[in-house]
Amino acid sequence: MSVETMQELLIDELKDLYSAEKQIVRALPKLAKAASSPEFQQALLGHLEETKGQVGRLEKIGEILGKRLTGKTCVGMKGVLEEGSEILEDTDKGTVRDAALISASQRVEHYEMAGYGSAREFAKLLEQAEVVPRQNVI
Ligand SMILES: [Fe+2]
Repeated sequence: MSVETMQELLIDELKDLYSAEKQIVRALPKLAKAASSPEFQQALLGHLEETKGQVGRLEKIGEILGKRLTGKTCVGMKGVLEEGSEILEDTDKGTVRDAALISASQRVEHYEMAGYGSAREFAKLLEQAEVVPRQNVI
């Protein structure tokens, strides 16, 4: 797919985010299982539910824009999550692993934030009001 217009760029960004969120949904249960602090495990599982909600929101945005968001792989998130998996090989269960997983989780969130921030600005620019309403749908 070639991206020539801001509208196409917005769709491309949304597809990337959709792929990223789906990858996170797949990875979080494994990461929660690998963590040792019960509070951290709960935080990761809570975030799993939030992430599923984000997937649903993106699907809704796709419907509003009349576009399917499937068919793209977010290579950046794939790499960030691969680094997260390496932690499981490099550490034993315990506080050091938890600290490393928190660091990896922050990378995931910051990658996402960059994508959402851009998508939101593109949608504003395109006056896609229904995509950027009250509570930052994106
Ligand atoms: Fe990406």
